[in-house]
Amino acid sequence: MSFLLPVGITSYQAELPKVFSSNSIGCLSAIPTSINGRRWINICGIFGYIGKQNASEVVLAGLKRLEYRGYDSWGIAILADQIKINKKVGAIGDLNQALNLPKSSIGVGHTRWATHGGVTDINAHPHFSTDKSFCLAQNGIVENYQKLKDDLLKKGYKFQTETDTEVIVRLIEEKLKKTRDLKEAVRQAFLELSGRNTVIILTKYGRIIAARNGSPLVVGVNNKEIFFSSDTLSFAPFADKIVVIDNGQMVYYNGKLNVIDIKSGKSLPYRLEKIDFHSSKVDKEGYDHFMLKEIHESPYVINQIVNRAESQFENFIKAVKQAKNVYTIGSGTAGVAASQIAFYLRVFAKIKAQSVIGADIFEYYDLLSKDDLIIAPSQSGETADVLEVLEIAKKRKVKIASLVNMPGSTMTRMSDFRFMSFAGPEICVMSTKVFTSQIAWGYLLGKVISGKGKVGRENLKILSQEMERYLDAQSNHELIKKLAKRLGKSKDIFLLGKYQNFNIIKEGMIKIIEGSYIHAHGIPAGDLKHYAITLMEKGVPVVVVVSEDVAKGDVLNAVNQVKARGATVIGISSTSHPSFDHYIPVPNTGETQAIMNIIPLQLLAYYMAVELGHNVDKPRNIAKSVTVKYYN
Ligand code: BG6
Repeated sequence: MSFLLPVGITSYQAELPKVFSSNSIGCLSAIPTSINGRRWINICGIFGYIGKQNASEVVLAGLKRLEYRGYDSWGIAILADQIKINKKVGAIGDLNQALNLPKSSIGVGHTRWATHGGVTDINAHPHFSTDKSFCLAQNGIVENYQKLKDDLLKKGYKFQTETDTEVIVRLIEEKLKKTRDLKEAVRQAFLELSGRNTVIILTKYGRIIAARNGSPLVVGVNNKEIFFSSDTLSFAPFADKIVVIDNGQMVYYNGKLNVIDIKSGKSLPYRLEKIDFHSSKVDKEGYDHFMLKEIHESPYVINQIVNRAESQFENFIKAVKQAKNVYTIGSGTAGVAASQIAFYLRVFAKIKAQSVIGADIFEYYDLLSKDDLIIAPSQSGETADVLEVLEIAKKRKVKIASLVNMPGSTMTRMSDFRFMSFAGPEICVMSTKVFTSQIAWGYLLGKVISGKGKVGRENLKILSQEMERYLDAQSNHELIKKLAKRLGKSKDIFLLGKYQNFNIIKEGMIKIIEGSYIHAHGIPAGDLKHYAITLMEKGVPVVVVVSEDVAKGDVLNAVNQVKARGATVIGISSTSHPSFDHYIPVPNTGETQAIMNIIPLQLLAYYMAVELGHNVDKPRNIAKSVTVKYYN
C-alpha cells in the first residue's frame, strides 16, 4: 500500500540528519534537564493536519521537518473511530510506526525536549483527557504549574505524569464541567497559565484547537488542507499561504478557520499571507552534513542580499538617520551578527550604533524612548531573550527593525521594518550561512546610508565570487581538515582579532565551542597584554585573523607577543607572516574582508566536529532556536 506523500518529503526523509545515531543517544542521555539547578528549558515542536491525505503520515513528515529543533521523544495522535495515540522516546520513527495508526484525515503531533518530567514514553505528548475526548500537546513551560496542580489535586484529579502539560489537560477538564464547550474551556484554562506556551488539541469531534502565548504557532493553508505548526519550514512545500497566530490568540477549525482573542473570547479577522518557501528543498544534497552544505550556500545568500531591491532600505534609512539612539540586539551567533552590524554602521555610516546581547538584562530599558531604533537579526525570529526586550521596546514606541530568515515569525510580525534574509532553510543548529548573510546585510546597510550603496553591492558581488572560488578549491578544505585534526586534541583554543575581525573571532570561538565542545576564547588583540598573555605558553594554539586594515600592525604585534611565549600561531590572512606556524590563506576582498574571514573559521569548526565524531548538525545541549528562557 503506497500512500501519496506530500511532494518533497521523500527526498527530505532520506536525507534526515542522524539525530539519534548511537553516540548521540549517549549524548541525549547526557542532556540534563537541569544544569546545577537551573532548568535549561528548550524547545519542542507541534504539528497539526486536516486534509485529504493520511494524517499520520503527513504529521510524521511534519515532525521530521521539525526534527532539527531538537527533541528527545515524539508522538502522533489521529482521529479514527476514536482518538489513537502513538508516542515514544527516541528518534522519530519510520513510516511503519505511523502506519500502525488507522487512516484518518485529521491528526496532531509533537516533538518533546524534556523540561518537567523525565524522558519517558508516558511523558511524551500528546496527553489524553481522562475520558479520552481530546488530547493535547504543548510547546513551552507553565511557570505556575505547581500551584495549578495542587489546586487540581485538591479537587480530586489524578496525574499519571510529572509533566506541566498534563496540568493543562486537567485544568481544561475542570473548566469543561461548567462551560460544556471545549473551545471555551481551553480559552479559560489558557488564561490561567503563566509563562510562554502554545498548545494544540485534537478533539473526538474532529476539531483542532490551538492557543498561543510566546512559543510560535503558524497555520499553513492550500485550497484543500490546513497545517498547524511551530514553524513554516515544516509545511512549506505544501502550503500556499500562512496565517500567523499572535500571542494571546487561539485558532480552531470546524469546517472553517476561526481566530479568537483569548482574553475577550471575541472572533478576530485574520490575514492570509503568501509565502515563497516552496523552494525549500530540505536535504543535504550530497553533502555529509547540513552544516557543510549551508557553508557552501554562503555565496548564494550574499547574492540574495545584493539582489533585493535598494527600495527595501528607503524609509528605513531615514529612520536610522533620525533615531536618537540605534541599538542592535541578538543572542548567540545572532548577537555577534548584531555587533558586526553596529560596527559597519559606525565605520561606514558614522551612526553611533551600539549592540547589546539579548541575554543581558537590557539595562537601557529605562533609557529606551520613542526616538530610538532597534535592529534585531535572528534566524528564527523567535528567540525569547530578544523578544522580551523587543516587547518592552514596543511598549515604549521604539522603532523596531528585524532581519529574520524564517517567514511568519514573531519578530517579523512586531517590526516596523521587516527584512528577510532569504537564506533558505538553515537546518544545522550551528548558524553559518545566516550569520554570513546577516553581516553582509549590515555591511550593505552601512554603505547605503553613506550614499555608497552601489559600491557596496559591487563589493558584495566580488566577495560572493571569491567566496565561491575559495569553497570550491578542495586544497582549502584539506588544509583546514589537517589543522582540525591537530586542534581537536587541544584543551583550550585562543583566537585573536581586532577592528573588523573582532566579531569574526568571537563567532569563530562560538562555532568551535558549539561543534567540538572544546573551550575556545576570543581575545581582542589589544587586550592580550592585560590578561590573556598569562595563558600563553609552549604549544598553546592561537588562531589569529589579520587583514589589510588599520588594525594590522596591532594584531601582528600581539602575534609576536604570543609567539615569544611559545604559542602555536595559526594565521588566517590574505598575506602570510613569519610568525605564523600554520597559514590559512584567504582572498583579499577589501572592505568585505571580515565576511570572507568567517568562512575558514566555520570550516575549521565543522572539520573539528567531524574529526571528534560529534553530531555535527545537532550538537549536544543546544537547539536551533531557544523560544523560552532559562528557568530556575
Ligand atoms: C541559539 C542557536 O540557540 O540561538 C544559535 O544555537 C543562534 O545558532 C541563537 O544564533 C539565536 O537564535 P536566532 O534564531 O535568534 O538567530
